Amino acid sequence: MVDAKPRVLFNGDEIAARVREIAGEISAKYPDGGVLFIGILKGSFVFLADLVRAVGRPCHIDFVRISSYGSDTASSGKLDILMDVHIPVRDRHVILVDDIVDTGLTVSQYRERILQMGPRSVEIAALIDKTGRREKHVSLDYCGFRIEGGFVVGYGLDWDERYRYLNSVCLLEGE
Ligand code: PRP
Repeated sequence: MVDAKPRVLFNGDEIAARVREIAGEISAKYPDGGVLFIGILKGSFVFLADLVRAVGRPCHIDFVRISSYGSDTASSGKLDILMDVHIPVRDRHVILVDDIVDTGLTVSQYRERILQMGPRSVEIAALIDKTGRREKHVSLDYCGFRIEGGFVVGYGLDWDERYRYLNSVCLLEGE
C-alpha cells in the first residue's frame, strides 16, 4: 500500500522543538516527576513517547482506548471505554495526552471520568488543538500547535489507519 503525499504542516524539527518546550513546562511544574501520563490511543502514542523522554523524570505511563459520540446523535455525550486506565489514579498528578483535540468530546468526557477517581490534579496535553469544530470547551494546559481546520495526519494521526508513521504533521488535501 502506498500513501498519497500529504503536505507538511509541521515538520519533525518543529515538532521536536515544541515537544521540548512543553516538556520544559511540565518539568518546571513537577520537578520531582511522579506524574501519571495517560495516553489516549491510538493517536497519542508518538507524542507521548517523545514527551515523556523529553521530560526525562520518573513517571508512570498508562494508555486508554475510548471513543465518543457527537452531541448531534442519539447517543449524545456517550463515551465508549474499550480499555480503561489500570494504574491507580487516586492522589496522583495526571496528564491526559492526546494527539488532537477536535470537537473536544473525547478528552473532556474522559477527564470527567478521571476526576471521579480522585486524582490530585488533572491536566491535558495535546499536540494539535483544532479549534474549528469544537463542541465542548476544553482547557488545554499544554498545546503543541493550534489550527483552525483541515484534515491532518502523521506523527500518530491517521486517515483510515494510514500515515501514523510520518515524522511530520501533514495536511491531507482533498479530504
Ligand atoms: C482521535 C484523536 C482524539 C479524538 C479527538 O481519535 O486521537 O482522541 O479523535 O476527537 P474529538 O476531540 O472530536 O473527540 P480517533 O477516534 O480518531 O482514534 P485514533 O486515536 O485511534 O486514531
